[in-house]
Amino acid sequence: MKTTKWMWAAATATMLAAPMSALAQGELVVYCTVQEEWCRPMVAAFEKATGIKVLMTRKSSGEFYAQIKAEAANPKGDIWWGGTGDPHLQAAEEGLTDPYVSPRLSELQDWAVRQARAAQFRTVGIYAGALGYSYNEPELKKRKLPEPKCWSDLAKPIYKDEVQVANPNSSGTSYTMLATMVQIMGEDKAFDFLKAMHKNVNQYTKSGAAPARAAATGETLVGITFQHDAVVQAVNGAPVKIVSPCEGTGYEIGSMSIIKGAKNLENARKWYDWALSAEAQAIGSQAKVSYQVPSNKAAPVPAQAPKLSQIKLIPYDFVKYGSSAERKRLLSKWDAEVSTAPK
Ligand code: F6P
Repeated sequence: MKTTKWMWAAATATMLAAPMSALAQGELVVYCTVQEEWCRPMVAAFEKATGIKVLMTRKSSGEFYAQIKAEAANPKGDIWWGGTGDPHLQAAEEGLTDPYVSPRLSELQDWAVRQARAAQFRTVGIYAGALGYSYNEPELKKRKLPEPKCWSDLAKPIYKDEVQVANPNSSGTSYTMLATMVQIMGEDKAFDFLKAMHKNVNQYTKSGAAPARAAATGETLVGITFQHDAVVQAVNGAPVKIVSPCEGTGYEIGSMSIIKGAKNLENARKWYDWALSAEAQAIGSQAKVSYQVPSNKAAPVPAQAPKLSQIKLIPYDFVKYGSSAERKRLLSKWDAEVSTAPK
């Protein structure tokens, strides 16, 4: 009896003395789909706040969607944080993610809550950002080329081999571009445009933000990405100009979902609630690695974030283009008609 009491007192003393982060609170496997530079400080801050050990990997939106589907019988991940909303909606429709109604929903912008409702709370919006492109100004001058201003400019033969964009199968950014073109031009004209632009594409990258880095270094003249990814380059001093195409443009509602069958479900919910807080949503801009518009109304909007109210945004149909059938159909059509089109 004496020993038990002593042991209890010693254990309590140790617990009180130890900082929160030093206590073992279990693990959490995070599938992260923003830029690695943003994933890392998020993980560090969450570990510090909760004492939960995070195992994180970074992949693009389409890649994690495919991985979560492949692992469905024996899920390895607990939470999928970040990435464009369309594959999160597709995963929700296919029952690959778990419904969860966070107590923080009332703190969020309407567009983030709409995303959650559309998926019966199997996902939620965490940030928003507009699509566009950036070009390297000195390289444009050197080549004596006109400033591109519209989507249609990117299919002109004068920009042969000068455009870079990701592959829409792996990248949510590029799928957003595909769906945006269909919504702006109508499907037939959109595919004609994509086939013509294919002649100008020097590389289809795996990750959506890579073309912004390539435009910054002059490795490509034009990089199609979300505008906030080009802001990262501009803030770091790259001589890039960011374009909101004249026809208007699509946008993303970056999302987060709990993976169905998560082995660390309670910890996944802890991350979910924490990642929706204003404090957690300020981490990316404080670290100068993210310039999206955060979904928590109280989170600071970075000064350099592209102003969505000043961009000609199309009424992007997330429900249609995030549906499993439509996403599969458009990607197969892109594979069959665009990626194999003559150069
Ligand atoms: O973190 C940058 C970012 O552009 C996000 O805004 C977006 O959700 C994600 O990357 C998309 O990445 P990918 O196109 O590689 O799927």
